[in-house]
Amino acid sequence: MSHDATITLQPLACAFPADGKTILHAAEAAGFVLPSSCRNGTCRTCICRLESGAVRYLVEWPGLSIEEKREHYLLPCVAVPLGDVVVSAPLAKRQPRS
Ligand code: FES
Repeated sequence: MSHDATITLQPLACAFPADGKTILHAAEAAGFVLPSSCRNGTCRTCICRLESGAVRYLVEWPGLSIEEKREHYLLPCVAVPLGDVVVSAPLAKRQPRS
């Protein structure tokens, strides 16, 4: 088994395992909420920015322009980390534990 990738959300400075999931799902599994709506890479509600690392997309055409990709914008609902990543997600919140 390969070493699991770690996702770090800024500015919360929280880190959790990617576990082969999308960044959105991994964040939710770790108890964090990110804005989301369609969850299939089209609505752009979840858009945030990749500060470091690389991702692959589950869909062929995530709703990002070439310029946005060049500027490291990211759609976490369809992005799976390829290694450790740092994501700038100012709207991320800690989920109250039930
Ligand atoms: S939730 Fe719609 S693009 Fe991510």
